[in-house]
Amino acid sequence: MQRTIVLIKPDGLQRGLVGEIMHRFERKGLKLIGIKMIRLTDEILENWYVHHKDKDFFKDLKSFMEWTPVVAMVWEGLDAITAVRKIVGITKAREAEAGSIRGDFGMSGSQNIIHASDSEESAQKEMGLIFNVDEIFEYQSATECLIYSDDEVKN
Ligand code: CMP
Repeated sequence: MQRTIVLIKPDGLQRGLVGEIMHRFERKGLKLIGIKMIRLTDEILENWYVHHKDKDFFKDLKSFMEWTPVVAMVWEGLDAITAVRKIVGITKAREAEAGSIRGDFGMSGSQNIIHASDSEESAQKEMGLIFNVDEIFEYQSATECLIYSDDEVKN
């Protein structure tokens, strides 16, 4: 099974979308294995967005992400990174597909409600920036046999 991290950004929190967003991942069949509310620091953001550090929008991005705490969650499932990114939608929310979180609730390309890891490598790095090892929980899902075939979950 693959793990991915999502952050509900300050605009998602302020707009009261936390429950709605969690509900979408739960209904999909993804398994919640970590959750916390955290206020991001310059240090975390400079590492998290290291590839955007030289961009014009970096300063605004950092202050936006520090405006309020964010809600961080780790979700697990088969090909979870791709599955979560489809539910989230593309960066520019006004062009995101209807039915996705950004497509249904957003208009902005910067204040776009939610972040989701784009690769296994980013997921590992981002999880490490927010969660301690003992804040990620391994447990048996009672519904796994309804969500996947035996063949899909063997190993
Ligand atoms: P996300 O894809 O979660 O991670 C990078 C973030 O940078 C992106 O969401 C936006 O919030 C922000 N971002 C990307 N492009 C721009 C831009 N052109 N102007 C402002 N913010 C941006």
